[in-house]
Amino acid sequence: MMEQAHHLSLADRIYVALDVNTRERALEVVRAVSPVLPSFKVGMELFYCFGPDIVRELKEAGAKRIFLDLKLHDIPNTVARAATVLTGAGVDVMTVHAAGGRRMMETVLRAVADKAAEVGIPRPRVVAVTQLTSTDRPMLNEELGIPGSMAEVVRRYALLARRAGLDGVVASADEVPLIREVCGPDFLTVVPGIRPDFYRSEGDDQRRVATPREALLRGAGYLVIGRPILRSLDWRRAAEAVLKECANLEPALSNTDKPKPAVLADNLTDKMRVQRIYSSRLSKEK
Ligand code: C5P
Repeated sequence: MMEQAHHLSLADRIYVALDVNTRERALEVVRAVSPVLPSFKVGMELFYCFGPDIVRELKEAGAKRIFLDLKLHDIPNTVARAATVLTGAGVDVMTVHAAGGRRMMETVLRAVADKAAEVGIPRPRVVAVTQLTSTDRPMLNEELGIPGSMAEVVRRYALLARRAGLDGVVASADEVPLIREVCGPDFLTVVPGIRPDFYRSEGDDQRRVATPREALLRGAGYLVIGRPILRSLDWRRAAEAVLKECANLEPALSNTDKPKPAVLADNLTDKMRVQRIYSSRLSKEK
């Protein structure tokens, strides 16, 4: 049975970004922090250095969940196959680019559901990236040729992801209310750019920031926190301080992260659809 949001504790909603470049350091952080915050985000650098084995190693070191942020984007068949491998490796949350289109996202979701059913694990969450935070409006309109304001584009891509059946999107805390308005309260928002009060005075490159408390009160589903914990001299105490800032918030938390009935109830049809997509692709590729 999938976890439901009201069963998710505050600690389960926070992913610590393992932005370190050695396996030893990553394992050290997990051993220290996991008794307080048990979920971790792995990015491209760590994954491309150490491969799928790093997921198992981090879990053996105490990580309860791994969010692998590879931002997959390719033809549907290729991304679905990659997502199948990641599901088998024990990844719990993964990202794809909404710009890959509805069929890519649908195909990934089916492939992930099939693999999870095959190995008997809960289906990993698949969340979409709408627009990278490094993109600004001139780049969006002029370089990428996408018309409209950033808010309009984020809104459109979030809706596309929701229609494809995805679990949610990565968003800044500022975008959470808009996404909840457009996609509903059950659509998960994964929010980086979190700056706890105890870290506020430190300057870094994050612009659209919020405290963990603000982000959760706006309806964020999961938070991603890196430097405020990793730059601390005592990682575990920093993790405890994050939780302390959010004390007494639990009853007010948004009821997101429900399993999507369309995917679960319609399994057979979904499976047949994936097979159809695979076989039509394969026959074209031959
Ligand atoms: O150190 P910090 O708390 O800023 O870490 C945030 C994490 O979230 C980093 O791993 C960063 O790559 C990631 N991220 C982000 N902004 C996005 C998407 C991902 O900061 N829009």
